[in-house]
Amino acid sequence: MLEITDVRAGYDRSSVLHDVTVAVPKDGVAAVLGHNGAGKSTLLRVAMGLLRPKGGRVLLDGEDITRLAPHQRVARGMAYVPQGQQSFPHLTTAENLQLVADGRSNGKEAVAEALDLFPVLRELSGRRAGLLSGGQRQQLAIARALITSPRLLLLDEPTEGIQPSVVAEIEETVLALSRRGGLSVLLVEQHVGFAMRAAQRYYILEAGRVTSSGEGGAQAEGAVREALSV
Ligand SMILES: Nc1ncnc2c1ncn2[C@@H]1O[C@H](COP(=O)(O)OP(=O)(O)OP(=O)(O)O)[C@@H](O)[C@H]1O
Ligand SMILES: [Mg+2]
Repeated sequence: MLEITDVRAGYDRSSVLHDVTVAVPKDGVAAVLGHNGAGKSTLLRVAMGLLRPKGGRVLLDGEDITRLAPHQRVARGMAYVPQGQQSFPHLTTAENLQLVADGRSNGKEAVAEALDLFPVLRELSGRRAGLLSGGQRQQLAIARALITSPRLLLLDEPTEGIQPSVVAEIEETVLALSRRGGLSVLLVEQHVGFAMRAAQRYYILEAGRVTSSGEGGAQAEGAVREALSV
């Protein structure tokens, strides 16, 4: 449903992505793996329209969205959870969710649904986001993205720096969401096990190039670990 084709991109004079081609299957998960600095976040910024590529195209359900602004992509059903915790630290958990829900006809139900996916957030509704743990903040960030009822979710390292039990919770939620249908996910993830359990397709990015790609699934985990260790 999302096709990123032959994308070249970078910052000022530095080139980061070199002819990168990545496809997200409809209602499926594509995982992008790679070492620090490989260009994973840059790829998601291009997908979301935050960085204009110097070459190549981005297609959403066949429509060329390469030149569209981020808000136009949101209107087409894309949502983006950037790397790191991105909620408003001085607002409470509930206010952070309400902010996204305001003005949406189904806002109330969408908040309730997001809270059902992350019950811990219900207990923390009165706490300021800046006081939440890293894992809780990540769950809040994903919940905020889901309130927009996206068809395509871009997730940048949702488990980075988070303790194992919360990593497992986030993995469960992503798997549950993708099984429910109606949502495709482009997942950047350093946890190879999680990425491969979630993904139907994987791509390994090295120094801005896709050096290996294939079908996802736990059976491919060994090959991916090997490719990443060299
Ligand atoms: N705003 C920016 N201006 C200039 N260079 C940047 C900018 N953002 C990233 N870079 C550079 O682009 C390259 C790719 O960075 P990117 O953040 O895409 O990597 P990444 O694969 O997401 O890494 P990590 O796993 O550490 O998050 C790096 O060399 C980085 O220093
Ligand atoms: Mg990154």
